[in-house]
Amino acid sequence: MGFTSIIMAAGMGTRMKSKMPKVIHKVCGKELCRWVIDVSRDAGADKICTIVGHKADMVKEMLGDICEFALQAEQKGTGHAVMQAIDVIKSAKNEIVILNGDIPLVTAESIKNAVEYHRACGNQATVITAVMDDATGYGRIVRGADGGVKKIVEHKDANEEEKKINEINSGMYVFDSGELVYALSKLTPNNAQGEYYITDTLEILLEAGKKIGGYAISDNDEIRGINDRVQLDEAEQIMQKRINEMHMRNGVTIHNPESVFIEDGVEIGSDTEICQNVIVKSGTKIGSDCIIGSGSVLDGAVIHDRVDVLSSVIIQSEVGSGTHVGPFAYIRPNCKVGEDVKVGDFVEIKNSEIDDGTKISHLTYIGDSDVGKRVNFGCGTVTCNYDGKKKYRTTIGDDCFVGCNTNFVSPINVGDGAYIAAGSTITEDIPANSLSVARSRQVNKEDWKDKRK
Ligand code: UD1
Ligand code: CA
Repeated sequence: MGFTSIIMAAGMGTRMKSKMPKVIHKVCGKELCRWVIDVSRDAGADKICTIVGHKADMVKEMLGDICEFALQAEQKGTGHAVMQAIDVIKSAKNEIVILNGDIPLVTAESIKNAVEYHRACGNQATVITAVMDDATGYGRIVRGADGGVKKIVEHKDANEEEKKINEINSGMYVFDSGELVYALSKLTPNNAQGEYYITDTLEILLEAGKKIGGYAISDNDEIRGINDRVQLDEAEQIMQKRINEMHMRNGVTIHNPESVFIEDGVEIGSDTEICQNVIVKSGTKIGSDCIIGSGSVLDGAVIHDRVDVLSSVIIQSEVGSGTHVGPFAYIRPNCKVGEDVKVGDFVEIKNSEIDDGTKISHLTYIGDSDVGKRVNFGCGTVTCNYDGKKKYRTTIGDDCFVGCNTNFVSPINVGDGAYIAAGSTITEDIPANSLSVARSRQVNKEDWKDKRK
């Protein structure tokens, strides 16, 4: 449909009581203003300009080059904020949609509907409104006898009659760009707060004979502004419900979804089951027919089909189809675990490749290693990958059998088909198909107990 979106995000957000500007606090793994930017784009914005001010550099760094920025060095009100994007507004070929960096729950559908409404009515300005049980703090929509919007009065500037109005200004608007340029040029800060109010543009346009209207949004959740951390949590719960429902509608079973936290931008295949108290962070992809068991944390993990993960943590690593992980396994960054692998209880793997069919069933640490196919690790194997100064790699070929309680003092290369006796501390490479025993021979001192006396 095409429009330009201006996102106001210069405010400090005092009530967050934070070192960070409000708009980069996150809901479901994504910054508040990034939600608004993404939604604008989904709704059809072909240009997006975010107005930054308080800790502008931090906001810009966090967001990267996903949109243009304009700087509002001093915060002199919402009208003043929009003025900072005047060049963008002047060069816009279509409507300007004004949004707020701290209202993250608005949907692309509502923005689209508001723009369509604005066009269908032939308005020059349209304000997105909502009807609230308690309108305290909001700007009130004052309508005339004909039902048309006359003006917006801020709570602080409202008289007793106006304070009774329960239709409020969401803070989101659609403007014809030329009319907005004109109205901004007429704004004055003559009000209770001594600020330039974007809301005053409506009265200015009406006086100039333009058509203004109100588009009432049906779901009040969409206009929730975030001012403190209680509201941040409320918004996150609503967003979480939306995300979980989206996955469930796509064919994912989620048990007790209130306890399951899935961030934005996660992919999950059909017939996968997500159990209670699971956390799935951004960038994670889960295939089909998987079971992600209770208490698991997946962060940037790529999990292929038919994998079951029981109460385990997987970070920035890939796990192949049919592999079993856990309970209580910890797969740290930069691992590639193959197909039909078993990573059992109390196993930690870091920066390693484990090829198909290998079994690491219990109590084992594998770091900085390349492990072949069908290797069997006995309980309690440890790669000693760190000498106190440097890290070294351990390479183990296909079809090896590693006895219980083996230590690999890396760097070590083990050839294909090698066997290692239990309790060995391996300090030298092992040729293929050999048996390595690296422990002292057992001595039995008979009748020792009696002789001791
Ligand atoms: C504004 C509206 C009010 C509406 C409410 C909805 C005005 C005058 N009032 O009031 O009618 O009901 O939003 O939430 O617009 N900002 C800047 N620079 C500034 C001032 C604000 O970027 O100089 C940004 C803030 O960071 C925020 C947004 O604009 O994202 C709204 O500002 P805020 O001060 O919260 O406006 P309200 O007083 O809530
Ligand atoms: Ca506000």
